[in-house]
This record gives sequence, structure tokens and C-alpha cells, in this order.
Amino acid sequence: MKVVAFNGSPRKDGNTSILIDHVFVELQKGSIETEKIWIAGGKIQGCLSCGKCFENQDRACAVKKDMLNSYIEKMLEADGIILGSPTYFGSVSPELKMLIDRAGMVSIANGRMLSRKVGAAVVAVRRGGATDTFNTINNFFFLNQIIVPGSTYWNFAFGLNKGDVVKDEEGIQTMKVLGENMAWLLHKLNG
Ligand SMILES: Cc1cc2nc3c(=O)[nH]c(=O)nc-3n(C[C@H](O)[C@H](O)[C@H](O)COP(=O)(O)O)c2cc1C
Repeated sequence: MKVVAFNGSPRKDGNTSILIDHVFVELQKGSIETEKIWIAGGKIQGCLSCGKCFENQDRACAVKKDMLNSYIEKMLEADGIILGSPTYFGSVSPELKMLIDRAGMVSIANGRMLSRKVGAAVVAVRRGGATDTFNTINNFFFLNQIIVPGSTYWNFAFGLNKGDVVKDEEGIQTMKVLGENMAWLLHKLNG
């Protein structure tokens, strides 16, 4: 089994990445393969609302000039999907929103092709807006029939500068339990 995580922060090794790693530790303990993809490093554009994904129904976005279709392939190959984001003005980063809009629409256009995969949001935040960020990511999961495990709190941790999130003990514990529950659910669904 495999979980692919998309880090939507422009800071490659920042707080979002650190939180994803804490989830990964528990997945790996459950013998689940993990891969983290940093999407903000390459160019990714927003949805053009061209509707071609509904015409073509080829499990791909009609815009081929960026990395988006390779990310969709990674989602299709994986059993679980983590979408990670810093909180930017009370929402996800623009890079993650582009992934959500385009991969989400391609999935809908192709009979909700991501259905019954397991999905989890991971959010880094300095102070406010994390629940909106968390909800935006969950919108992607819920309307694509992706199954979402819970944790002991909503999946975010507090920190401003790189590495600050490790000082948020409850946030780190939330990621640990999220990883345990994601591993448990993946084994139940695929065992
Ligand atoms: C453009 C921008 C907008 C931000 N907006 C918010 C915000 O609305 N609420 C908040 O608490 N923190 C906000 N922050 C702080 C980041 O969410 C916080 O530093 C987070 O830990 C960064 O995660 P990263 O290291 O993975 O990039 C913002 C930071 C930037 C650069």
C-alpha cells in the first residue's frame, strides 16, 4: 500500500513538510509506502474551466503543459492521499488550490475516479484560519467519495518560522494519531 502526500507550501522543508513527516512515521510503522511531492516548486496553473475533462474523459486534464497530470497519476496509483498546506489568508496556498480544482474536476469528470481512496488534510498555521484551510481540503475529499479518517483534534499545528510546529505538542500528537488511524483504515479497506 502507498500514500502520496502533496506539500503545497512554497517552503519545501517548512512546517507543512514537517507535519507530513510526522504522519508518515506512523504510516511506515504500518508497512505503508510513502512519497512526498513538493508541488510549489514547479509551475502549476489554475483550472481554465474549459470543460475538456468532461468531453475527453481520459482521466487527465486537457492542459498538458505543467506537472498536474503527473500528480493525478500519482493519486491514481496510491491508496491514500495527503494534501498539506500552510494557512494563507485563511485558506490553502494557491498552489494547493490549483491542484484541488484541477484534480478534483478531472476526478468528477471521470466518474469520481478517486472514490474510496483514503484522504487526509495536514495544515500549518501561525494563529488563525486553519479550520477554513482544513475544510477547503476536506471539500476535495468529501465530494470525490474519498474516505477521511479522524484524529484527536482537527489536523493542524501552530508555528510561524520553519520548524516552529514541533513545539506544538498537541499538534504533533494530532499528526501521530492521524497517521495511526490512516494506517488502520488502509489496512481495513485493503487487507
Ligand atoms: C502569504 C502568507 C499568508 C499567511 N496567512 C496566514 C493566516 O491567514 N493565518 C495564519 O495563522 N498564518 C498565516 N501565515 C503564516 C503561515 O501559515 C505559517 O507560517 C505556516 O507555519 C507556514 O507553513 P510552511 O512553513 O509549511 O510554509 C501566512 C504566511 C504567508 C507567507
